[in-house]
Amino acid sequence: MAKKMWAGRFEKATDKAVNDFNSSLPFDCRMYKQDIEGSVAHSQMLAKQGIITQEDADKIKEGLLSILDDIESGKLTFDSDAEDIHMFIEEELTNRIGDAGKRLHTGRSRNDQVALDQRLYAVDEAKEIQSLLGEFRDALIDLAEENTETYMPGYTHLQRAQPITFAHYLMAYIQMFGRDMDRLDEAIARTNISPLGSGALAGTTYPLDRPFVADQLGMNGVTLNSLDGVADRDWAIELASFASLFMMHLSRLSEEIILYSSQEFKFIELDDAYSTGSSMMPQKKNPDVAELARGKTGRVYGDLISLLVTMKGLPLTYNKDMQEVQEALFDVIDTIKGVLVPFTGMIKTMKLRKDNMEKAALGGFTNATDLADYLVRKGIPFRSTHEISGKLVHYCIEHDTTLEKLSLDEFKQFSDLIEEDVYDAISLETCVNKRTIIGAPAPETVKAALSKIKGLENDGSSN
Ligand code: ARG
Repeated sequence: MAKKMWAGRFEKATDKAVNDFNSSLPFDCRMYKQDIEGSVAHSQMLAKQGIITQEDADKIKEGLLSILDDIESGKLTFDSDAEDIHMFIEEELTNRIGDAGKRLHTGRSRNDQVALDQRLYAVDEAKEIQSLLGEFRDALIDLAEENTETYMPGYTHLQRAQPITFAHYLMAYIQMFGRDMDRLDEAIARTNISPLGSGALAGTTYPLDRPFVADQLGMNGVTLNSLDGVADRDWAIELASFASLFMMHLSRLSEEIILYSSQEFKFIELDDAYSTGSSMMPQKKNPDVAELARGKTGRVYGDLISLLVTMKGLPLTYNKDMQEVQEALFDVIDTIKGVLVPFTGMIKTMKLRKDNMEKAALGGFTNATDLADYLVRKGIPFRSTHEISGKLVHYCIEHDTTLEKLSLDEFKQFSDLIEEDVYDAISLETCVNKRTIIGAPAPETVKAALSKIKGLENDGSSN
């Protein structure tokens, strides 16, 4: 085992089992790029402040960039007993450039270094998630635009309730995912703050230029308390909270895709390329992408809870427990990135069975409220019209028919105020198209809302 950088006060080498247990290299190696970027910025700042020579800083930079190249080309691998990615890179640097490498860690602790690396990594990944999420939401917007006149039943209690359109239905999710995108933007802004210069916990006496480093790294600013800088991971919890809310929304949509693609509903047909078969039952076509998205939601909630519980009892400042934050955060990132690409593909390729949707909207007495509203317009109070309409529904059930198929004579047995105009008042088109108030399903209203979203998006906001 290589000699530890902190071995000075120790008489014995670390036990192998302890070393294996302690090591974060197997998972924190994914932050190699951010570790190198942070070290380049730190060392250039040290030279600018006259703490090390510019010559050493340039050697450090050159050495670090050669390490970066070698990692990316596969020439340098992480099979080492180094404790973590920070030690691994520093050891490698010193092997390559000698004494100058030993000057890199001046005025820095792994405590502020790991906090910086994690924030930089999380911001890079979160920006990728931002763009994948944008593409996914755009696919929903495109589909909504094509279906402002595709009638379907809206549900409460999973019972047919009132008719809506498929665009209006999708618009609900477009709103939810828009708010998720806003939450992600805000989480990124709070994550992109540099803790470097917090030292182990109490800053340092070296005259570090912290804002310069933050600026070099494209960050929004610096943390203002050194204890907070190394001790908190609330930004990671915020990202996991965004992720949990997003997955909750995606899981509800998944549940509906699963239902709607079943033989019982037949509203949606998933593309073959986005479905799977059964090893035993030849006829099966399963919605695995949606099911896995629903399943992975629990996993992301687990990560969020794990982060919260890891942090809840820790005394300030750094504690080794906090190393556990990394894997939960990485799992959140991997899971969301993993789900978004196939899910977007599934949405883009699925076919709608508009005929079945409309048939379902016509059944289930989804126009019963509109019949009651029609009688309100004839002067009867709503509570009474609700009862008349309910009795008509009961009559239809007994005679195996629907409201719009009743004769005027049949209608008149329940209220003599019902006239020929009732048929227009309770038609599917009227039920949907007359609902024009803000937020309602009328095609023109949904189209206006869609163009408002597109306009706002061009201004850089998502709702
Ligand atoms: N691998 C460590 C982590 O992820 C780096 C920080 C180590 N700091 C320390 N004081 N042991 O938390």
